[in-house]
Formats: sequence, structure tokens, C-alpha cells
Amino acid sequence: MKKLLIIILLGGLAAVASLPGCKPDPSIDIAAPDTSLNISFTVPDGWPQPAYTFTNNTLTQAGFELGRKLFYDTRLSKDNTISCGSCHQQFAAFAHLDHNVSHGIHDLLGTRNTPALFNMAWQSSFFWDGGVTNIENQPINPMQNPVEMDQPVTEAINKLSADEQYRSMFNTAFGSDTINSQRIFKALAQFMAAMVSDNSKYDKYIRGESGGELTAQELSGLSLFRLKCGNCHPEPLFTDDKFHNDGLTLDPTFNDTGRIRITGNTQDRYKFKVPSLRNVARSAPYMHDGRFSTLDAVLEHYRSGIYVWHNADPLLRQNIGMSEQDKADIIAFLNTLTDETFLHDPRFSEQ
Ligand code: HEC
Ligand code: HEC
Repeated sequence: MKKLLIIILLGGLAAVASLPGCKPDPSIDIAAPDTSLNISFTVPDGWPQPAYTFTNNTLTQAGFELGRKLFYDTRLSKDNTISCGSCHQQFAAFAHLDHNVSHGIHDLLGTRNTPALFNMAWQSSFFWDGGVTNIENQPINPMQNPVEMDQPVTEAINKLSADEQYRSMFNTAFGSDTINSQRIFKALAQFMAAMVSDNSKYDKYIRGESGGELTAQELSGLSLFRLKCGNCHPEPLFTDDKFHNDGLTLDPTFNDTGRIRITGNTQDRYKFKVPSLRNVARSAPYMHDGRFSTLDAVLEHYRSGIYVWHNADPLLRQNIGMSEQDKADIIAFLNTLTDETFLHDPRFSEQ
């Protein structure tokens, strides 16, 4: 019933948008939205082309719903206790609230902070060190990781194959009831790549919509942000999709050397992927090891805590000059990046 309502609502919106005299939607459709679906993927106006274009994995309602069911299914873990959604919580922009590093099966600790998940179609690499380059290959890592879900994919396939509902859902999504790893990963990719967050107060401001009126403090924060942070966290995605040394000291407990683990290149030591700052007010704690629990602590790091490594980024060879007022203004601006529509979008919630 809930789903039907959403379809009707969205159908209604589509009808309004197509009324003569209305401005045509300037966005580019990658997978032409079928109005009978409640899910579609549209590149927001002014955004770059995505890295993932659903090639050989057409976004369908059935594929998306299957991906969502898998994402929230604890059977993907050995003892049926942990789902992807256990660590990636929607209200925290699919990060793990209050956990500096991940807590997986048997309460085992990982070594890295669970990143937020949204706008993943624009990401060319995944994980803090960019160790995975295709969203369709990503789920194998948490599924088999001994401190996350700890179960061979073949085991997961056996469990799912015993479930009549799953066989029927795979049949609808992929044309036969065969359950294999490729189909599991493709369905999860459809669900995750369709998660677009583009309706924050900041977005409304950019689009000139009502609800997008920024206060004087937020506007001051925006100009300061563009000046001091925008190089690595550029709009509209708030990440340059690259790796930088962020001037953090090494935590000896984890001894996480970052990007060098993937490339072997000493220039990449202590470099980590730049996270998007959308929804950042909701996805604490921060950084690859979750060492900061507030935005104020992050800003204080940039203002007074920069450690200059041999391969320090030219922009971070010294602290970033900011007054207390500048800091407060930037934080006020970062708060405008919270997208309540996305954080509460029922399409992305456990059904
Ligand atoms: C135990 C907690 C945990 C579970 C369970 C888990 N994840 Fe994650 N996820 C993480 C952590 C931690 C990282 C970062 C890993 C790294 O950088 O090495 C991550 C990274 C990711 C990323 C990359 C995001 C980015 O921006 O780089 C994606 C996508 C993702 N997870 C999806 C999933 C899916 C799908 C599942 C279920 C099959 C899942 N996760 C299960 C903790 C978890
Ligand atoms: C030289 C590039 C660079 C500049 C300049 C920069 N950042 Fe970052 N930022 C990064 C990287 C890289 C990370 C991730 C570092 C890590 O986890 O080790 C990061 C992480 C963050 C995080 C944590 C996000 C999360 O989800 O964990 C916040 C918040 C942040 N930056 C805000 C800012 C602000 C505000 C400024 C300007 C005052 C700024 N950054 C300037 C590269 C940069």
C-alpha cells in the first residue's frame, strides 16, 4: 500500500512536470525513467556525468527491490546477525553512527570508519584507499571479510536459494530463478547506485527554489568553504574523487598507511579518498578511522592540527587560517548539506 502510494505520488509529479508550459526537465536520463516505476536514475542538472551508467545492468524496479532486500538481509552473514544495513544506517546517510571503526559479526572490530553511501554512481573508486574500482565488485569484500559478515558467497547463495521468495524475485529481476554471485552483486549495485542525494538546502539554493534561502552566516560559510576547502571537496559532489594526505597524524593502533596499500607508490603513503561532505552533519564520526566525533573537531584539525608529512598536499603544508567566526560559518554552511528527503526516503529504507 505504502509503495503504491509512492508510485501514485511520483506518477502525479511526473504528470505535473509534463504539463504544457512547464519548464522541461533539463536533467539527462541515463536509464529512461519508466513512469510505472518508483525508482529512476537521473543526473541532476549541472552535475557531471556519472562513472557508473548501469551498462549491462539496466536499472529496473525488480532489480532495485531485490538489491534493497539483499542490503537489509542478515542472511548475508555467517550467523544471520549482520546485514549491510547494520553498518550502513539510513538516518546516518548510510554511515555507522557513533562507531569510529566498524563493528561486524560477533562484535568484532574492523580498522576503518564506515563511510556514508550516496551518489556512488559518480565515484570511480571505493573504500578509503580506493581498493575497489567497480561498484559491482564491492559487496564481496564485506560479505567474506572475517570481521564483517564472515561468510563465503557460496554459503549465502545456498541460503538464498532455499527461499522461494528470493527465487521468484531473481526470476523477475533477471529472467530466471538462478541465484549466483554476479546477480547478487548486480542487484546490490542497482540499489546502491540509485541512491542519489541532491535535495539539501544548499541544492535548493543553487536551484533558486523556495526553502533554499541561505542565512548571512551560511553564505559567509559557503564563500569561505569555496576558498579554503573547495579544491579537494568541490561542488556539486563535494569530493574531487581523488586521494590526498589530509595532514592527520598516524594512529599506531591501526597503522593505516592508506592508498599506498593499493598502488605501492611511496607518494601515496597516508593518502585517503576524499569523502563527500554532503549529509556530513549526520554521519559522525569523521575520517578514515573515525577519530573526530564532531565537525568542530574536524575544523580545529584543519585550523591548528595539520601534521606536515613528506608528501603533504600543497594546500595542507600549513594550518588553514580561520578565525573562530570563520569556523562557525563553515560549520553552518556544512549543515545546509543535510538532505532530509534522502535520509528519510522510504525507497531506500528496509521494507
Ligand atoms: C561490519 C560493518 C560493515 C558491513 C556489514 C558492511 N559494510 Fe560496507 N563498509 C564498511 C566499512 C568499514 C567500509 C570502508 C572499508 C575500507 O575503506 O576499507 C565500507 C565500505 C563500503 C562501500 C564503499 C563506500 C565508499 O565510498 O568507498 C560500499 C559501497 C559498501 N561498504 C557497501 C556495503 C554492502 C553492499 C554491504 C553488504 C553486502 C556492506 N557494505 C556491509 C562497513 C561495513
Ligand atoms: C588537500 C585536500 C583537502 C582539503 C584542502 C580539505 N580536505 Fe577535508 N578531507 C580531505 C581528505 C583526504 C579527507 C579524508 C581524510 C582521512 O580520512 O584520512 C577529508 C575529510 C574531511 C571531513 C570528514 C568527512 C567524513 O565523512 O569523514 C570533513 C568534515 C572535511 N574533510 C571538511 C573539510 C573542510 C571544512 C575543509 C576546509 C576547511 C577541508 N575539508 C579541506 C581532503 C581535504
